[in-house]
Amino acid sequence: MPAEQRMAESDICLLYHDLLLSRATHTDKSLQFLENFQVKDDDVFAITYPKSGTTWIQELLPPLMNGGDFTSVQTIPNWDRVPWLGSTRAPLVLDTMSSPRPIVSHMPYHLMPATLFKSKAKVIYITRNPKDVAVSFFYFYKMASFLDDPGTFGEFIDTFLAGNGELLRNIWRNPELGDRILYITYEEMLEDLRSVLNRVLMFLGQEISAEALDRVVSRGTLENMKNNKMSNYSLVPEDVLDRKKSTFFRKGISGDWKNHFSPELDAKFTAVIQEEMKGTNIRFPWDEE
Ligand code: A3P
Repeated sequence: MPAEQRMAESDICLLYHDLLLSRATHTDKSLQFLENFQVKDDDVFAITYPKSGTTWIQELLPPLMNGGDFTSVQTIPNWDRVPWLGSTRAPLVLDTMSSPRPIVSHMPYHLMPATLFKSKAKVIYITRNPKDVAVSFFYFYKMASFLDDPGTFGEFIDTFLAGNGELLRNIWRNPELGDRILYITYEEMLEDLRSVLNRVLMFLGQEISAEALDRVVSRGTLENMKNNKMSNYSLVPEDVLDRKKSTFFRKGISGDWKNHFSPELDAKFTAVIQEEMKGTNIRFPWDEE
């Protein structure tokens, strides 16, 4: 199916501005809630493109923000513990959360609520090599009954590139946020989680004991998160996420794209990224690979 047709609204996806969003997790009401959301000065946003470490940051942020307490990580599913602004759970939980509130969102900069820019709220922006994002997303599309069948990997990449120019361009480099935004990468988190978390703590103006930080780091490994039923999506029924087709926590590594991209596909993908990033002066470590 041509990429343009795949970008059309369907029973599965709704078109919101220039984004296709799953109807399973977004409604007119949840998007209206996003538009009118009153951001508080002490809210902390973690902004990600899907498959870039969202669930990971949902595990890490609560104990960093509350002095090392893991109660919410052990008792509240990730989607209610650190809700997605824009999703259907957000209107149900955000108003009941005590401050400071950790919040995630996949929304691009221009679709965030206006109050974010007037507030003093802080933003942590996580980026991941888009080629690994695409691989991770491909497997997620396979397992998620609420998303279109991805087709072959090559077909999926065409759709991904057609629909994600905005993602590749819009990386939230906007002077409006000044020092209220911290950029981290999934790859840095893999390499040295403790030092990334120290940067996050400093950015948030929070302190926790060295022992508590040790616990956050050790509980935040892929293996430990696989065993946390509040984070491993085992609470989601099999007919929604089919674990026979893939697992939510797959490999959790960097560079898996090399096992999936042919040289031709790699050249096509790289050319689109280069075109989208032209003139931005932004370089990521993976641009050199
Ligand atoms: P893979 O599919 O490459 O394994 P998101 O939560 O944004 O949807 O991202 C999911 C991706 O993050 C998956 O990537 C998943 O394995 C990875 N991930 C989640 N927690 C992780 C952790 N603790 N360590 C490494 N990778 C993690």
